[in-house]
Amino acid sequence: MAEDDNSAQALVVGGRGGIGSAMATQLAQDGRFDTVWTVSRNASDAAPGLRSLETEHDEAHIKVLSEQVLAESPRLSRVVIALGTLHGEGYGPEKSLEALEGASMEAVYRVNCMLPLLWLAALAPGLRKNPDCRIAVLSARVGSIGDNGLGGWYSYRSAKAALNMGLKCASIELARRAKGVKLMAFHPGTVDTPLSEPFQRGIPEGKLFTPAFVAERLSELLDSHPADGELSYLDWAGKTIPW
Ligand SMILES: NC(=O)c1ccc[n+]([C@@H]2O[C@H](COP(=O)([O-])OP(=O)(O)OC[C@H]3O[C@@H](n4cnc5c(N)ncnc54)[C@H](OP(=O)(O)O)[C@@H]3O)[C@@H](O)[C@H]2O)c1
Repeated sequence: MAEDDNSAQALVVGGRGGIGSAMATQLAQDGRFDTVWTVSRNASDAAPGLRSLETEHDEAHIKVLSEQVLAESPRLSRVVIALGTLHGEGYGPEKSLEALEGASMEAVYRVNCMLPLLWLAALAPGLRKNPDCRIAVLSARVGSIGDNGLGGWYSYRSAKAALNMGLKCASIELARRAKGVKLMAFHPGTVDTPLSEPFQRGIPEGKLFTPAFVAERLSELLDSHPADGELSYLDWAGKTIPW
């Protein structure tokens, strides 16, 4: 994408979350995108300048919205999928095996793993001929099996590990079917959002990032990673995370 080319489009799924909304703002201010789509469960108070779509992410509606975005985005060149949950009504990160509950596990798997992959699946047919589309999916370092020295957080960790595996499969498939697509599983660091809010105690000075800082970092990483047929698993500093 040429620096002065204003005709590309971007999409942020999870556009009202801390990182998703910062990313949408970053892309809207970037100057290279004539349209920045955002998708969230409540589009009513979305920031001005964004094209906001509302959904509860049921499978059929994901397909309908993906088709709309693709039909109205001749050059979709950035996609950020920023869906995730760690705690909610009746669930939180488990410290022991005894804490595991099926319903909570399902809720965490759905938002962290199933929905991002369903969005990717719905967008994929429209990306076949796209010459340059860079896609970041918000993962987490705790999804790394190799990096897991502490245990705990069973559902969230395993949902992110499963997400990473799904993205790996997708990168292999897309390298054949849509050579212009770059896939990235991104760890943003610890970011000051509702997701991390109950777990921010004890974070060293300077290590709790603002969403705006992380959005800038992710934007730079997407700019510097053209399609190579690989899934990159990167942190906010651009360092590769072991699987
Ligand atoms: N914050 C951190 O320290 C941190 C660290 C590592 C990884 N991450 C990852 O970064 C991503 C963004 O998280 P965040 O920090 O920005 O958290 P956040 O502010 O809580 O945002 C969560 C996002 O997930 C969506 N979401 C939550 N529950 C949902 C549900 N039941 N159904 C559909 N969508 C749902 C929200 O959708 P709406 O837009 O509709 O509200 C929102 O976009 C997540 O994948 C998270 O795992 C965050």
